Amino acid sequence: MIDSRIPGFYRLPLHERRVLLQERLGLTADEVCALDGGLDAAAADHVIENVIGTYGLPLGLVLNVRVNERDYLVPMCVEEPSVVAAASNGARMAREGGGFRADADPPVMIAQVQLLDVPDVQTATRRVREQAAEILAAADRTQPDLLAHGGGCRGLEVRDVGEMLVVHLKVDCRDAMGANMVNTMVEAVAPLLAELSGGRPLLRILSNLADQRKVRVRARVPLAALAPDGDGGAVRDAIVVASRFAGLDPYRAATHNKGIMNGVDPVVIATGNDWRSVEAGAHAFAARSGAYRPLAVWHAADAAPDADLVGQLEMPMALGIVGGTLRGHPGARLALRILGVTTAAELGMVVAAVGLASNLAALRALASEGIQRGHMRLHARSVALSAGATGGEVERVATAMIAARDVSPVRAAAELARVRAG
Ligand code: MEV
Repeated sequence: MIDSRIPGFYRLPLHERRVLLQERLGLTADEVCALDGGLDAAAADHVIENVIGTYGLPLGLVLNVRVNERDYLVPMCVEEPSVVAAASNGARMAREGGGFRADADPPVMIAQVQLLDVPDVQTATRRVREQAAEILAAADRTQPDLLAHGGGCRGLEVRDVGEMLVVHLKVDCRDAMGANMVNTMVEAVAPLLAELSGGRPLLRILSNLADQRKVRVRARVPLAALAPDGDGGAVRDAIVVASRFAGLDPYRAATHNKGIMNGVDPVVIATGNDWRSVEAGAHAFAARSGAYRPLAVWHAADAAPDADLVGQLEMPMALGIVGGTLRGHPGARLALRILGVTTAAELGMVVAAVGLASNLAALRALASEGIQRGHMRLHARSVALSAGATGGEVERVATAMIAARDVSPVRAAAELARVRAG
């Protein structure tokens, strides 16, 4: 089993990190090439329209992640400095309490048919329910491959949302995200629904509120992990109060959830999945009560002064490891290979664990020293890079700017000139 704890990884030069990864995972030369983007313009031309090139983003590795007793190296594709470090740091704290525990719903997506001008809602509802088996069988007939893999329709729901009737198909998509499959299914059964309801079908499309396909993840963090040489109890209590703030105030809940998505989205992107869909599902789920709420909450395990900090996250997670536009993308394939997940549900649990890790790291920093101190060095490095520093110059220019308490492009240019003048 891979060990996701690699002390000092961040201090290694880039090429040594690659060698280490290659050796640990036995990557082929082609797979190593995919670390540099993995998609050329000619291939990209077959993915979207009006292609004029490709766009690079840094690919980093989250360390220390353990979910359900298994270690994972987690690739993240993201532009924001400190996100990878924060996730690794949060995962390390959770690891000291045994790692994350997670579980996932079956991979069931919802697809909707909107029915207009239904003459008698009650009769239509009854007739559609009576014919449910026939409707589901008609939908299943469009997906022989899915059926062969054990997936297919699991149920049907009729909802009167006012002004119109809505029929939901619930479809087990196995290891696919399933958007194309379920869209085909609802398009296929819409005429039958029209006949049964006397209504006029209009939209036939999946719902991104994938609340039948949720993941739940929990972490238990000992006080010593929160504050190795300090007052862990105070840090725990501050995190609990910070979490409560998100529970009371949607302005804070939005930022709290953004911190969770800092962990979620970059892994979703690295694995070639549709992050807009995951985002839409997350925020719709966060607002399901009518108020916008935090996706993760933190509390003390019990009333004891040395009680662990406990966090839990629940959110929809519509991901695939097969099918989809980008599954042929060598970079996405490599990301899945590095992760070593074998089902979409397993991927969802790891993604959610990284989301909870990111949330923990952000709250711990915010509730103690604030985040700017940690951000400053990373910010200084990126300002140094923008000023043209390369190799060892980056660190020297960044250090000089921090010492001068002036992290700015002008200062970076001056420090770079000084470094180069020797
Ligand atoms: C920054 O990308 C994310 C945070 O704002 C999250 C939070 O406030 O919890 C630090």
